[in-house]
Amino acid sequence: MQLIDGKKTSQAVKLEIAEEVKQMISAGMKQPHLAAVLVGNDGGSETYVAAKIKSCEEVGFASSLIRFGNDVTEEELLSAVKKLNEDADVDGFIVQLPLPKHISEEKVTEAIDPKKDVDGFHPQNLGRMITGADAFVSATPQGIMELLKRYNIETKGKHAVIIGRSNIVGRPMSILLSLKGHPGDATVTVCHSRTANLKEICLQADILVAALGIPEFLKADMVKEGAVVIDVGTTRVPSTETKSGWRLKGDVDFLNVSPKCSFITPVPGGVGPMTIVSLLLNTLKAARQK
Ligand code: GUN
Repeated sequence: MQLIDGKKTSQAVKLEIAEEVKQMISAGMKQPHLAAVLVGNDGGSETYVAAKIKSCEEVGFASSLIRFGNDVTEEELLSAVKKLNEDADVDGFIVQLPLPKHISEEKVTEAIDPKKDVDGFHPQNLGRMITGADAFVSATPQGIMELLKRYNIETKGKHAVIIGRSNIVGRPMSILLSLKGHPGDATVTVCHSRTANLKEICLQADILVAALGIPEFLKADMVKEGAVVIDVGTTRVPSTETKSGWRLKGDVDFLNVSPKCSFITPVPGGVGPMTIVSLLLNTLKAARQK
């Protein structure tokens, strides 16, 4: 069993990005600039956005954080998006999800200029990605593809089973793995909460992506010997061992599943760090395309 080290890989990619930023600056270009919009004070969102901002600093990007209270109106948020669309200094920006219930995530996402949509959530980017055209691809699936590439994991002709059909992870992941090229050319099955015979389908998988958000859902008796297992789960569970009082748990029963795998990602330190790196790569791309 080989552990897929997302932390180490993300550090290597960050060094590559930092090097590219240096070259851009010596060529007279400005440093790439990522902006993040954060609404309310959800603990998870606060942590994720803080990590994104810190990563910007590490690679030499400029960053800005635009904060709103939970009582922000949809109109105010849409006007902030419009301002960022028009701000020539901002190369790319994200609106951290989830948003409060009184705001339409769909409306906000569709208001983002697709050229600055470094999360890849805008339908134009999703649509382009599906056709295999150049597009901003959502960060988590892109980070997983980068791990598969850097660990030379063969996907051609393999049966990939995705558990979860979210717009952010499961669905784009299924498309990327089925597209032509490497990593890709896989035969893909998408499973979800209504799937019958889930265990039987998982047992046929050469590559298993668990992205349903239920801690330790994937058990050893659902995994074929030699499978590649990618764990996208990041549920916070109470813990007495950490200062914060919580720790992250993946969707895979790591202790019992890992001995059966050829490759597996841990939680934390697997997919998570690669997600942020993908966002940085998308921002770099946005800055270069300007
Ligand atoms: N909420 C959970 N994951 C993400 C993400 O990748 N981007 C944004 N904007 N919100 C999220």
